[in-house]
Amino acid sequence: MSSSSLAVSLLLLPILLSSLLLRLSTLLNPDPSAAVPRVKRAPPLPLRFRHDGAFKILQVADMHFGNGAATRCRDVAPEAGGGWCSDLNTTRFLRRVIEAERPDLIAFTGDNIFGGSASDAAESLLKAIRPAMEYKVPWAAILGNHDQESTMTREELMVFMSLMDYSVSQINPPGFLVHGFGNYHVGIHGPFGSESANTSLLNLYFLDSGDREVVNRVKTYGWIKESQLAWLRATSQELQKNMHAPAFAFFHIPIPEVRGLWYTGFKGQYQEGVACSTVNSGVLGTLTSMGDVKAVFLGHDHLNDFCGNLNDIWFCYGGGFGYHAYGRPHWPRRARIIYTELKKGQKSWMEVESIHTWKLLDDKKLSKIDGQVLWRRSSI
Ligand SMILES: *[C@@H]1O[C@H](CO)[C@@H](O)[C@H](O)[C@H]1NC(C)=O
Ligand SMILES: *[C@@H]1O[C@H](CO)[C@@H](O)[C@H](O)[C@H]1NC(C)=O
Repeated sequence: MSSSSLAVSLLLLPILLSSLLLRLSTLLNPDPSAAVPRVKRAPPLPLRFRHDGAFKILQVADMHFGNGAATRCRDVAPEAGGGWCSDLNTTRFLRRVIEAERPDLIAFTGDNIFGGSASDAAESLLKAIRPAMEYKVPWAAILGNHDQESTMTREELMVFMSLMDYSVSQINPPGFLVHGFGNYHVGIHGPFGSESANTSLLNLYFLDSGDREVVNRVKTYGWIKESQLAWLRATSQELQKNMHAPAFAFFHIPIPEVRGLWYTGFKGQYQEGVACSTVNSGVLGTLTSMGDVKAVFLGHDHLNDFCGNLNDIWFCYGGGFGYHAYGRPHWPRRARIIYTELKKGQKSWMEVESIHTWKLLDDKKLSKIDGQVLWRRSSI
């Protein structure tokens, strides 16, 4: 997109915002006599580590939500419940995981809805995200390559998601002209009453990796553009002036270097080719030079759920979550947990000490698998 059309769309944003807010209010409150404008329910902000010094993120990759009960599951064996299976199974899995893990934040990493199967993008999104809102869990979402294939553009989707209850999603950073929609930073502050109550101890960067593009007349996937990387570098530099806090990045489409992990090693399953763009825009170089990003969380390839290390940065897939998404029979749908703990000081909580991850399977026991330490602060 040229910067002029971007500027125009930024000017149109307030109009879009108010019309979507109205839309949201009528959807959630079908009583026409209730003409009181509905205000977004926001979680307490800033987000904070808990009093036990931990912060737990649930990554939900590729829900591929359609219309709900009428949308059939894909790639589920009949004897494994494939006969009676719909988007409601995705909802049930999300509720189960929230109940079991009580996350402090849910990161929906794109293809949250599957546009081709959703006859109304807003309704599909409301249904898909509903468990997060029911349990009042703060959540952040980015877009994949399928979300916009229904009745809303990528811009409208990000505006809508930024207005939904308990959402901390943002459209784009103020003061920057960046490509795409859904590029933003969320800082996780120290617990209430601690010395770090006003300091971000963990930084989360959300990025729009696009959908599809044509390069030299050949179709390929989207990629993260230089304007986004420039914002990322500037933001990271600014944050690190105060505090060397570790950070995570979340985006949907993997970068080309993830392919090489097949040869250098990974934990988890690598069961399909990495479907990235043919364009390498230098994301790995940028992340490496920033120094704060310890791990990147990806979606897109549902049959890959591994973590592998490139330049001291972990690249982890969430693994397919949704039942309407392609999968593999007898290979349960799954979710990823990212668990960060603070160091206990003499009087108060200190900086981040360790980062762990594991996955949960949607089987009878909600099995935990592939636990690993992603990062630990060195003692020197
Ligand atoms: C989907 O949910 C239905 C109803 O709860 C259940 O009978 C079925 O086994 C589930 N299927 C899968 C694959 O979990
Ligand atoms: C954090 O900010 C609040 C409000 O400005 C202030 O009252 C409090 O003392 C600050 N806490 C710390 C630990 O700096």
